[in-house]
Parts: sequence; structure tokens; C-alpha cells
Amino acid sequence: MIRRETVDSILRGGHTDREVTVYAWVKTARTGKSVAFAALNDGSSTENLQAVFDRSVFSDDDLSGVLTGACVMVRGRVVSSAGSEQAVEIAAEALTVIGPVDEGYPLQKKRHSLEFLRGMPHLRSRTNTFAGVFRVSHHLSMAVHRFFDENGFFNVHTPFITESDCEGAGETFQVTTLPLDAVPVENGKVLYERDYFGRKAFMTVSGQLEAEPFALSMGKVYTFGPTFRADPSDTRIHGAEFWMLEPEMAFFDLEDNLNLIESFVKYTAGYVMEKCPGEIEFFTRFFEKTLPDRYRALTEESFARVTYTEAVEILASCGKGFERIPAWGEDLATEHERYLAEEHFRRPVFVVDYPASMKPFYMFVNDDGRTVAACDLLAPGVGELVGGSQREHRPPILEKRALELGLDMDTYRWYMELRRWGTAPHSGFGLGFERLLMYLTGMDNIRDVMPFPRTYGKMY
Ligand code: 4AD
Ligand code: MG
Repeated sequence: MIRRETVDSILRGGHTDREVTVYAWVKTARTGKSVAFAALNDGSSTENLQAVFDRSVFSDDDLSGVLTGACVMVRGRVVSSAGSEQAVEIAAEALTVIGPVDEGYPLQKKRHSLEFLRGMPHLRSRTNTFAGVFRVSHHLSMAVHRFFDENGFFNVHTPFITESDCEGAGETFQVTTLPLDAVPVENGKVLYERDYFGRKAFMTVSGQLEAEPFALSMGKVYTFGPTFRADPSDTRIHGAEFWMLEPEMAFFDLEDNLNLIESFVKYTAGYVMEKCPGEIEFFTRFFEKTLPDRYRALTEESFARVTYTEAVEILASCGKGFERIPAWGEDLATEHERYLAEEHFRRPVFVVDYPASMKPFYMFVNDDGRTVAACDLLAPGVGELVGGSQREHRPPILEKRALELGLDMDTYRWYMELRRWGTAPHSGFGLGFERLLMYLTGMDNIRDVMPFPRTYGKMY
């Protein structure tokens, strides 16, 4: 059994003159007159560990495999470093090149562009940037489960294959085993009864509809898993697959929902600050200078709250030359959302009570009859981070909305039955995990926080 110590624990361990064994990848290597150096990283830290090889002990031949990209085992003593860049280093006593590398290794010493690195998702987590992103991602996942567990929620796994298109947008990936070059057709209609499930099926766009039955039986639940959207949106915030967190709570109205969203987002910021101070410093230095301000705003200030109607008024009277003038009843464009969060409020802002015509059938219709109890959370630098609402729990109103929107009532029969039998007010929201990760790392493109990015027109 090999006792391996991580670079992070050695660097943080501080106390010197002890024997350690490190398994790591060589970031850079150089040879001096009497000593050779290698910067080692094993993905545990934003900082490298310097290994020093005495050339009177290690021959040129021994050191010939210590090249950028190689996987090595180094055993030696932790000593205080003579150099100013690091407090400690490892004085090597034994070296094994475990995985050699040839000159074709693409990640050489120079700083590579994020775009270049997107082309090699299998290697980019060897860089400090991406290992940092995915360490924060790990801690953020843990924060999700801890927060909801600590607050009395049950985790439910909703299905990936569904019959319905929850958002009504129709931008779904279809799931089929029908032969695409010989689809069975009769009178111009595809015979879905011959398909795998005997009917049409899709990859889920949201676990909400399937989470609601659990809220209406177990109180407070959340589902957190992969979500698939076939929107032809080639932007920096749209993934074709992404992870969505969707809590659903019985006996919560819109305001309870907002309070929960706000305390959840703040909790995740506090959690990441505690677990990832080195990463936050790294991302501030290399990617987003204002990152500490984001964290400060997240921990010290409350989120702003406006109605959609107020938001449209702010946008119409702010004197900013938007490409499209905002008008009541129309979607807020990205430029509007950014203005509200980044310039007007300069912190996360909830926009609530949208026109019913802009939102899906399941949202609670407000007393004014023309708006619904919806909430979007807009965050500086990211845009829409959360979409949620109070749900329509009154059977006649829900049926009317569903019919207006021409939904196939057969598909939604069970959803309607939840209202027929033991209905209760309830609310929930969906938060894009990758977008939160962008917000907390300062990464500007969703492709740089997805392990293997899948976006419109491109599978890396
Ligand atoms: O606003 P959306 O579409 O809401 C729903 O799907 C609701 N059923 C959620 C609910 O109430 N349970 O999506 C919710 C969030 C968005 O605010 C955004 O953060 C993220 O999911 N999201 C995406 N993230 C990455 N790539 C995409 N293509 C995304 N589409 C939505
Ligand atoms: Mg939305």
C-alpha cells in the first residue's frame, strides 16, 4: 500500500523535515548546474509543489523523463525553500517516472487560451485553472446537499426520460429507438406505438413536474440532476445538458420561495469561501477582478426585489440606449437583465410577477388576473440564475390555463389529479448549477465550467 500525500496537504502542512511520497504530474521542469527543479501538481491545490533534485545524486538519464506532462512519483523530505516563491519544497531522494510523455503533449509551459483548452476536455483538468473550477464544483455540490439536508428537505431523483415538456417551449431532445432511416409511418403519422415506450418520449427539460407529487406528500423536497435542452442557443450561458437544482415546497408562497432562494445562494457563497479560499484568490487574480466584491455583496447585502412592471419602468426611464426598448408584456432581453443586475442594482435582483402570457401554464395566477407569481433571479455577470414560481394549485384556474395553452391533457392528467385530490399551495424554483458555478468562480463561459461541454452545434 502506497502512502501518498497530496500537494495541498504538504503545502499546508507547513512543518518541515519529514519524509513524504507525492504522486503528481510535472507542470514545468528545468535543470540548473547542480540541481534540477520540477513543479508538481496533483490537482489538489492551485499552487505547485517544487521538487529539487541534486544532480550529484540523480543522473541526466534519471531526470530525462521529468518532462512537462509526465506522471511521476517523488519521495523526499519537506524542507523550507530557498526560493521566495514557496515556503516549502521537497528535496527529492527517489524518483520514478510512472507515465512518460512525448514532445506531442499539448499543455506546455505557456498560458493557453480557454478556447484552446476547450478542445481538450480530457487534459484541461491538468491545468490549475480547470482543476480549480472542478474543485469549486465539488464543494458547491456538497453545499447543495448540505443546505437542503440541514433545512429538512428530502432528495428525490426525478426521471431523465419524460413524456412532457415542462416549460412548454418544445425545445426537447427526443428519445427513440425507431430506426431513423426507416421510421414506421402510417397515413403520414409516425407509429410511436412501435417505439421503445410505446409512445413519444423526451429527455427531461426540468424535474419540476415530477418533484411536485413529492412536495405534496413529503413537504419539502429537492431534485438535483442532469437536464437537457435542445434550444439552438449558442451563448455563453446555455448548455445542451446541464445540472439543475429544483426544490419544491408545500405550503410555501412566492415570498417564502424568494427567502429560500436568497438564503440558499448566500449559503453556497459562504461554503465556497470557507472551503476554497485559494481558488477564489486564483480566480480573482487571473479571471475576474471583481470576484471579492461578488462575495462581499453575497454575504453582506440582501438581494434586490422588484416586480416585472417596476423593472420595465426602470428600463424605460434609465436613458440607456438599449437595442430594443423594453415594453410591458415582452421578455426581458439579456441587455435588460444585465443592466438591472450590473448597473442599476449592482447585486443579485429578483424580478417577480411576470405577465402570464410570458410564463408556463403551471404558475399561480395573481389577483390582477394578468400576472403570475413567478420569480427570476438575475445575477451580475451571469444573467438568469434562477427561475421559479408559486404553483397554481386551484384546479379550475390551472385547467383553464392548460387549455388556453393547448396542452395535451392526457399527458398532464396525473398533474391535474394532484389538484383534484388534496391540493395545497406550493412553490419551487430551478437553479442552473453551472451558472452558479460561473458566478462563484468568475468564469465567463459555461463551456469552462462543464467537465465535457455539450452546447449547441458542438460536442467537445
Ligand atoms: O427558468 P427555467 O427554464 O425554469 C424551469 O425549468 C422550472 N421548471 C424550474 C422550477 O421552477 N423548478 O430554468 C431554471 C434555471 C435557469 O434559471 C437557469 O439557471 C438554468 O435553469 N438553465 C440553464 N442553464 C444552462 N443551460 C441552459 N440551457 C439552461 N436553461 C436553463
Ligand atoms: Mg427561466
